[in-house]
Amino acid sequence: KIKVRVQNILEMKKNSKRISSITCYDATFARMIETTEIDVVLVGDSLGNVIQGKKSTIDVSINDIAYHISCVSSSLKTPLLVGDMPFLSSGISRAETAHNAGILLQAGAEAVKIEGASSEICEQIHFLTRHGIPVMGHIGLMPQSVHALSGYRIQGKNEHDKMRLLTEAQKLQSAGCFAVVLELIMPQTAKEISESLEIPTIGIGSGNFCDGNILVLQDMLGMNKQFKPKFLKHYLQLEDSITQALQEYCDDVRNAKSELI
Ligand code: KIV
Ligand code: NA
Repeated sequence: KIKVRVQNILEMKKNSKRISSITCYDATFARMIETTEIDVVLVGDSLGNVIQGKKSTIDVSINDIAYHISCVSSSLKTPLLVGDMPFLSSGISRAETAHNAGILLQAGAEAVKIEGASSEICEQIHFLTRHGIPVMGHIGLMPQSVHALSGYRIQGKNEHDKMRLLTEAQKLQSAGCFAVVLELIMPQTAKEISESLEIPTIGIGSGNFCDGNILVLQDMLGMNKQFKPKFLKHYLQLEDSITQALQEYCDDVRNAKSELI
């Protein structure tokens, strides 16, 4: 298998090859992902929800992300490994952003992902990319800004929002991003952004016209039955399978039934 690098991700868009991406937070899943053709693996700050049980991603620290990158990187060779920059680890100052991105690269990430496209963020992304740190952008629904966005709502609905998102995507491309995540953006808007950019777009809940897609691993495996937004396909019903297996084990222990224990 050929190692996926930033250059390959850029070439995939030119060759009309769609980019498959998934999140991962541990070595067991990393080992399984390594056997597939997934192109990009993100250690996302969604680990705040999936691993830490929080209501938002705001509590996740740079060291939390670094720890999970180190868990994943030992078992992952082929896909490009991207580390998420958590709440306030970027955007304050160039120096802090560079320092924090450095922590993620030293933990084993090959690129970082940053939410937002303010002038400060874009300037800092430009600084990182000039200094050899590949950056993936992220616009649309930005979970770290959930309070400012007044909830987890679809973005780019009216003409004004659509124009703003198109401009933000252009700014991120100019800042040197090699790709940009489009989260929960109206499909038509996501399509126009994707067509207007040279760098690939990676959608989540943004329709079928992006250059690739990303899902949260535990969500797409159906490990949380309650969590089923419209865009999310449950490829397995793992919550049911796992709880059934645990109950079966519990019964075996109680009845001293299985020869295996
Ligand atoms: O944290 C995350 O998992 C993400 C992806 C859903 C894009 O940011
Ligand atoms: Na994230």
